[in-house]
Amino acid sequence: MLELKNIESGYGETRVIHGLDLTVEAGSVHALLGRNGVGKSTTLKTIIGQLSLTAGQIRFDGTDTSDLNPYDIARLGVAYVPETRDIFGALSVRENLELAGRLAPAEGASWDVDRVLDFFPNLADRMSNGGHELSGGEQQMLAIGRALMMEPRILLLDEPTEGLAPIIIQQIFTKLNQLKTEGMTILLVEQNFNFAAGLADMISLVGRGQIVWQGTADALKTDTEAHEKWLGV
Ligand SMILES: Nc1ncnc2c1ncn2[C@@H]1O[C@H](COP(=O)(O)OP(=O)(O)OP(=O)(O)O)[C@@H](O)[C@H]1O
Ligand SMILES: [Mg+2]
Repeated sequence: MLELKNIESGYGETRVIHGLDLTVEAGSVHALLGRNGVGKSTTLKTIIGQLSLTAGQIRFDGTDTSDLNPYDIARLGVAYVPETRDIFGALSVRENLELAGRLAPAEGASWDVDRVLDFFPNLADRMSNGGHELSGGEQQMLAIGRALMMEPRILLLDEPTEGLAPIIIQQIFTKLNQLKTEGMTILLVEQNFNFAAGLADMISLVGRGQIVWQGTADALKTDTEAHEKWLGV
């Protein structure tokens, strides 16, 4: 569904990603793991068109998105939840959701505000609260809810568990697992190994702007050498 071929990107003169290949199969959860600063977030920002490619190609469901702008990429069904969550603090929860809904394609709408509230009941009591009044867990649920309002065909999640209490992490896990069961394609960046391993059909380890290892969670659990080399501290 998503194919990155030998991509290069970075910030200004600084090349962060060099020669990265990645294929995410439709209906799978693919986790991107690696140490701090290796380029995981940069890869996601390149997929959504926030950073331009300096080489290589990105295809999404047959469409070459390499030169498309972020708006057009989003309209194809690529939804992104950044590490910073980027909730509009001055807007209510409802307004945050409705605004995201405007990015959805006109036809085939399956997600609306009511369905997001069924999915994340915690948000139901907070509908008229401002985004800035939410807890970290509620903000993450709203950020995912907004992405769902865009009718995603793939969800890109950057460290959805960061800074959250274990009980909230468990709730987010259950929800992502539910989306997976419903056939959603997910590309997940995580520091929480157990969280990622529990969800992912496939894991790619990133080291300095490239994929350095690929396999299932079970394969990685037994490959202590890869684990220590690319994830160990
Ligand atoms: N806006 C920016 N301008 C310049 N360099 C940046 C910028 N954002 C990130 N970098 C650099 O790019 C490299 C990769 O950063 P990136 O955020 O992709 O790493 P990451 O794998 O997501 O790490 P982390 O686990 O800390 O989130 C780092 O060396 C970082 O300092
Ligand atoms: Mg990051």
